[in-house]
Amino acid sequence: MPFPGDAPASAALFERASAVTPGGVNSPVRAFGAVGGTPRFMASGHGPYLVDADGREYVDLVCSWGPMLLGHAHPEVREAVARAAASGTSFGAPTETEVALAEEIVGRTPVDQVRLVSSGTEATMSAIRLARGVTGRDLVVKFAGCYHGHVDSLLASAGSGVVTFGLPGTPGVPAASTAATLVLPYNDTAAVEAAFAEYGDQIACVITEAAPGNMGVISPGEGYNAFLSRICAEHGALFVSDEVMTGFRVSPSGHHGLDGQGWRPDLMTFGKVMGGGFPAAALGGRADLMRQLAPEGPVYQAGTLSGNPVATTAGLTTLRLATDEVYAGLDKVSAQIQDLAGAALREAGVPHVISTAGNMFSVFFVEQDDVTEVRDFAGAQRQAQHRFRAFFHAMLAHGVYLPPSAFEAWFVSAAHDQDAVDRIAAALPYAAEAAAAARGEPAA
Ligand SMILES: Cc1ncc(COP(=O)(O)O)c(C=O)c1O
Repeated sequence: MPFPGDAPASAALFERASAVTPGGVNSPVRAFGAVGGTPRFMASGHGPYLVDADGREYVDLVCSWGPMLLGHAHPEVREAVARAAASGTSFGAPTETEVALAEEIVGRTPVDQVRLVSSGTEATMSAIRLARGVTGRDLVVKFAGCYHGHVDSLLASAGSGVVTFGLPGTPGVPAASTAATLVLPYNDTAAVEAAFAEYGDQIACVITEAAPGNMGVISPGEGYNAFLSRICAEHGALFVSDEVMTGFRVSPSGHHGLDGQGWRPDLMTFGKVMGGGFPAAALGGRADLMRQLAPEGPVYQAGTLSGNPVATTAGLTTLRLATDEVYAGLDKVSAQIQDLAGAALREAGVPHVISTAGNMFSVFFVEQDDVTEVRDFAGAQRQAQHRFRAFFHAMLAHGVYLPPSAFEAWFVSAAHDQDAVDRIAAALPYAAEAAAAARGEPAA
């Protein structure tokens, strides 16, 4: 039996929230702006499930937009957090847990040092400042559809909420900031070569998601990240690989573990999984670059709650529990859900492309059956969004919580067991039928 279309407790909370908070939410992607209806206010989570304010239980395929690698309220994470909180929640002085988390990250990835911060936005903002500081150059290259947080210079042609809500991306951002950002199409080596041919001696860094997940999931072409690293080195620019989303999710060492043979980024950014559901993120990289950060070097960066003892405990506990076996399980359950979604959509005759980067994936509701791949932002934007909207609401009514946007990744956790998969399998045929029946304006 599907849930009723209305959600009275969520609706009442949304009304209260809208009076005191812009749009009723504290991060735009949480609103149902792109799909319509009332955002569900969540009361609790356990394993692969969320329970909303009306007491309805959903299989969660958002996983807090990535962090909940082990599922909700994992008992060991919960206990470690409770113990840490009982010892005091913030000291404004260094602690052993920060060191242990930094060691864990350095042990898993190709960075020599990390600086802990509280959000992915802070991590990329600081990485850009460091890149500009050490190169003495201003220009930053980013790719259309990649999202790196709400950093002024990185909002141009951004993915995630910026594309979901069709925003131009730059109101409130000084023109000088936008002018210092070159936006190139993703997966287009010729465009990168042309930008370096023209501006090579002015480019401080190229920043990219290691595999984009904020315009829907897009796979980097074979050797693409290595190419970016190489061309940066040839021109004295730095290569910044943003692994806030992919880091510690798609492999023990993130996306670099999948395509990092023979090269390494100069700087990397991490977040989401490494905070275990708490605000913790990091920038890291080559020791000679990281030593340019204050207090060792001149590039200033700081944070009152950076390396917070509760957040670092949650992150460290999560990473220590994220064994090879966990990653094998994530790959398996992700493939299972992809197969089920593909079969249901084929059966209903809905054109689609399932696009993956490791265990992250998303379903593009493409307009034509003959589209077999989505390689860039332009491709991601050519979606029949009315089909996604219908699909989303049918999944929700049948107890599956998807990201409320056609431009986001679907996330699984180690807690997604056969019961969760069975519930998804039961919902999919209804959603595929709803997508097939949807009428609306296809994207231009
Ligand atoms: C690749 C990437 N970088 C940076 C960020 C910003 O992280 P935060 O939302 O923690 O500021 C995000 C957030 O979704 C992201 O996906």
